[in-house]
Amino acid sequence: MKRIFLLFVLFLFFAVNLQSQVNIIPQPVEMKTGQGFFVMNGPASITHAANPEVKRIADGLAARLTKTTGFNVTAGASSGQISLNLNAAADARLGSEGYQLKVAPGGVQISANTAAGLFWGVQSFMQLLPAEVEGVDKADGLEWKAPAVEITDYPRFGWRGLMLDVSRHFFTKEEVKRFIDDMVKYKYNLLHFHLTDDHGWRVEIKSYPKLTEVGAWRVKKEGRFGTFTPADPSEPRDYGGFYTQNDIRDLVQYARERYVNILPEIDVPGHSLAAIASYPELVATPGKYYVSSGEKFMEWPPKGHFYGLIDNALNPASEKVYQFLDKVFGEIAQLFPFDYIHMGGDETARNFWEKSAEIKALMQRENLKNLDEVQAYFVTRVNKIINSKGKKMIGWDEILDGGLTKGAAVMSWRAGNAGAFKSSKAGHEIVMTPQDFVYLDYMQGDVLMEPRVYASLRMKKAYVFDPTPAGVDPKLVKGGQANVWTEQIYNLRHLQYMTWPRAMATSEVLWSPAGVRNWNGFVDRVENHLPRLQEAGTKYGVSMYEPDVRANKKPNGIELVLVPEIEGLSMHYSFDNSYPDEHYPRYTAPVLVPKDAETLRILTYKNGGQVGRIITVPVSVLKERAK
Ligand code: ACM
Repeated sequence: MKRIFLLFVLFLFFAVNLQSQVNIIPQPVEMKTGQGFFVMNGPASITHAANPEVKRIADGLAARLTKTTGFNVTAGASSGQISLNLNAAADARLGSEGYQLKVAPGGVQISANTAAGLFWGVQSFMQLLPAEVEGVDKADGLEWKAPAVEITDYPRFGWRGLMLDVSRHFFTKEEVKRFIDDMVKYKYNLLHFHLTDDHGWRVEIKSYPKLTEVGAWRVKKEGRFGTFTPADPSEPRDYGGFYTQNDIRDLVQYARERYVNILPEIDVPGHSLAAIASYPELVATPGKYYVSSGEKFMEWPPKGHFYGLIDNALNPASEKVYQFLDKVFGEIAQLFPFDYIHMGGDETARNFWEKSAEIKALMQRENLKNLDEVQAYFVTRVNKIINSKGKKMIGWDEILDGGLTKGAAVMSWRAGNAGAFKSSKAGHEIVMTPQDFVYLDYMQGDVLMEPRVYASLRMKKAYVFDPTPAGVDPKLVKGGQANVWTEQIYNLRHLQYMTWPRAMATSEVLWSPAGVRNWNGFVDRVENHLPRLQEAGTKYGVSMYEPDVRANKKPNGIELVLVPEIEGLSMHYSFDNSYPDEHYPRYTAPVLVPKDAETLRILTYKNGGQVGRIITVPVSVLKERAK
């Protein structure tokens, strides 16, 4: 009996151990671990369905395996160790993006109804191989093996997006391709391209060339975006850039080959300073306008409506504006094959509209009772323009203000999901993108450790995003997305840092069934993926290893409270101005701050290794936080 028990324990140990080798993100729908490994220790071949798209996927996999294993891996063999099959009869459960992946010592089979499904299956297979498969070079001395497993997998939502703001800071075509490469590893299938805003117009429009001659350029400034001193007219406006129409076609094709749609956004009527600087006849308030270089031009009082310091909105009373939008959306519709065009619609300041005689006349003529109805009039006309180009319209949830015409879809972004509730009642399709769960411009850790942004979003919170909250008809929810606004993101490295690993949480929310989500298990898998990001040369955030630093006021002084994001962190601290290591006092419960201490320092360890960065906290900050 004792021996049987021992065997059982051993069996459990191996079962758990094997299970722990499968670290796929997003978590598959169904997974059964098997015995042994598929091992690659020499030249190999890939068999694939006779289909040009599947051939492209097989060629891509062969090229990656050849590059990193150093073995000659070829695609197109009649019987290879790896096979990519299209189902002869569609398997309804897999739908248009699902796949089955069988890894056994004898070979690897991926099957799907579609090439897209095979592409996602390949992403899962890659995640079973050593991290070095993500590398840029051949990795020597490795055992190239994948654990035996049988997976059936398909997405919860068809719309799994990441939004990239290329207006506040411009990212080159090659950088955008890199962003796409990274997102598909986590089965994102939509890039929402925020192409225009106050800080730059990024897409060539042949009918309005000044949009990019003037609108794509601003003065280069560094520091805290939004607080810069006003740019002097004498300073060079040579910072920025734009995509030519050929660039866009190239990007669309690149994305398409990776099963990613691109949703273009032209943000109107607000957020339009770059367009107005190019064509001042588009604004209701006459004046000289410049593309914003990151100086303050809006006020956001803690209470009440925000207002503009300059008018950055298109004039809803001007026919020239609708002629402009007809041309712009016409060219955009030609460039982007996706069914939807995003027209923005968010955060239109009203204080200049209020004063405009032209807008007052429009209100009388059209019997519009207030500025919400003026905005609705504008949105309705834009909807007609977009529909006339054969596309459907989507916009931020402000497009609901004053009433929204049927057929338009809504991106619900403001905290509390009011936009989603309202859309659901009115029967509009919804894409969920609530700022408090998916805004990846927010700081991912304590402000002490991050470039300051106005809010925080820990990965742990991103992981509990609910795309179908009670009160919203789930049939209307197309899916969701995480948004990377780039006011404070100046370069690709920081863009990656802000996106990863947090976007893994959103990817799991949008792909995996809600029931398989498990925070601790997810963290284990994320930890397994960090070396993969490292291999790929992708910068990532480490905030999950760094606690929130809090303080309480107590009768006898200030009490320090450290709140870790994940389990298993060993947090060590000093108050004596020296730099702690794992031999310093370990935080286990709130600590009274020594009366005369100046500086707190914290360093975290996990499984015996340093994981966080040194956190330096002036005690004055603790006192501030304890108020
Ligand atoms: C938004 O964040 N203004 C949509």
